[in-house]
Amino acid sequence: MKRIEIRKPDDFHIHLRQGELLKMTVPHCSAYFSRAVVMPNTIPPIDSASTLEEYRRQIVEIDPGFNPLMTFKLLKNMKESDVRALKKAGAIAGKLYPAGATTNSTDGITDWRDIAGLLKVMEEEQLVLSIHGEDPSVYSLDREKAYIPEILEICRKFPGLKVVFEHLSSAEGIQAVAEGPDNLAGTITVHHLLLTLDDVIGGALNPHNFCKPVLKGPEDRKAIQKVVLEGNRKFFFGSDSAPHSAAKKQEGAAGSYSAPVSLALLAEFFDGCGKLPMLEDFVSRFGAEFYGMPLNEERIELAEESWIVPEAYGEVIPFFASKVIRWIVKN
Ligand code: NCD
Ligand code: ZN
Repeated sequence: MKRIEIRKPDDFHIHLRQGELLKMTVPHCSAYFSRAVVMPNTIPPIDSASTLEEYRRQIVEIDPGFNPLMTFKLLKNMKESDVRALKKAGAIAGKLYPAGATTNSTDGITDWRDIAGLLKVMEEEQLVLSIHGEDPSVYSLDREKAYIPEILEICRKFPGLKVVFEHLSSAEGIQAVAEGPDNLAGTITVHHLLLTLDDVIGGALNPHNFCKPVLKGPEDRKAIQKVVLEGNRKFFFGSDSAPHSAAKKQEGAAGSYSAPVSLALLAEFFDGCGKLPMLEDFVSRFGAEFYGMPLNEERIELAEESWIVPEAYGEVIPFFASKVIRWIVKN
């Protein structure tokens, strides 16, 4: 039986949600990840030092050993002093959601030029800019591609600002990051790495694989897999694990709950490609290096051992529900 021990990973993009759900999402994340970049699209959003501190308190209360990396949502009416206060409160990144692009983003930004002053302050304060890179005004499968020029212009205008193009889904997005400036990197989810749009609409409609950005075609998946398997350090893991109740999924909510399965699926993927030793850099090194953080010292063990993903965790049906995964995380 194959085994591998690696540095405990980080998840550079996760939705932990609020209230009762935290009791499930925090342990599912902290079991596999030392640190995670916690997305701010709560209701109300994380948009001030006090909301950020309170949210972190609620998370750490559930698992004091977990290290949530807090973010805030960029809003049009935010002041430069708010950004400085957020940094002081411990924020590591600010998230730009184009208005209407995804779950809880109607209060997002229509044009990033409207918040250029805030981006300047983020650059000065060494905050990372995390971007949901989709233009919601164009056809759904072209939204990521349409946002690329905006991201490249932000990188040019703020050369000292680190920018993360989140949850890359298209060959064009991958190329833009690969060939883009040094201050640009990208996160990759396990669902965009493994699946295509056919896993949503190719047979019976599967709402549990429906997320934003929408899964794309085989060529896009190939481009994503290629940079990951080449060990390109501009690309690192961010699960975008985003739980919704089964009822909300039926209403059309976008997001897949992948936290309980993502690391095991990644081990299965890398091993299946004969590249298991490259798993560690993707999940435990490249992201920390881009963000300028020390690597985790704690270690975690994975083994080639099959298990069946539960059909549900409470009200939430997870990604890969009821399916067999051939690798398991020990500890
Ligand atoms: C996320 C959510 O549900 O909060 N949904 C998703 O489909 N990925 C938001 C996001 O990251 O786009
Ligand atoms: Zn997300």
